[in-house]
Amino acid sequence: MQEYLHGIVIALKGVPITLAVSLVAVLIGLVVGLLVATAKRSRFRILRIIGTIYVDVLRGTPLLVQVLILAYGVPQIINSLFGVSFHWEIKIVIGFVACGINSSAYMAEIIRSGLQAIDVGQSEAARSLGLSSRQTMRYIIVPQAFRIIVPALGNEFITLIKETSILSMVGIVEVTRQGQLWASQSFLFFQAYIGVAIVYLAMTLTLSRLVNYIERRMARSDRS
Ligand code: ARG
Repeated sequence: MQEYLHGIVIALKGVPITLAVSLVAVLIGLVVGLLVATAKRSRFRILRIIGTIYVDVLRGTPLLVQVLILAYGVPQIINSLFGVSFHWEIKIVIGFVACGINSSAYMAEIIRSGLQAIDVGQSEAARSLGLSSRQTMRYIIVPQAFRIIVPALGNEFITLIKETSILSMVGIVEVTRQGQLWASQSFLFFQAYIGVAIVYLAMTLTLSRLVNYIERRMARSDRS
């Protein structure tokens, strides 16, 4: 019993890093995702093509491989081109960026489908009342799409919390890595990884309850 508790305590030490990486990644993902969604809806074919390729490549390759490219591949290339070498402190930044970029592809699709879910009748009605296309977007489409998108974005955050465990592969000491380190010196593998699992579960359950609550609140304000 003692060992299981110890496993949980060890895993808890990684929570700040896991949450920080997930939070920053979700913000990066949101900003880049918004840009990509806009590009995919653009009038210009070239922007649409670039957006599509971006999403296809990021969703079509494993996050682990993307992290390995960013953590080991990119620093090496930059080093051989410009002669700058990287300190290992840069690791955390790589974690933010890799998860953020990966998430942006999923976010772009969430945002795009949210915008698409609004009936064309809405914008036709707005336009026939004399609103410009920009005003239609700002006052009619975006506020309605926002409600559809928020729960999906909450779920993306929950997914990211779990996906950041991949960063343990490149030496970022988040929850999973804390468990690995303890397991490899105590040999209590089962206790260590059960502790890790419990800590992830505590985070994801808390957050999914929160997302549900927000979803219900928004449904209520929809009806009144
Ligand atoms: N496990 C997936 C992969 O290896 C990453 C999924 C990321 N999903 C997301 N919604 N951010 O490619």
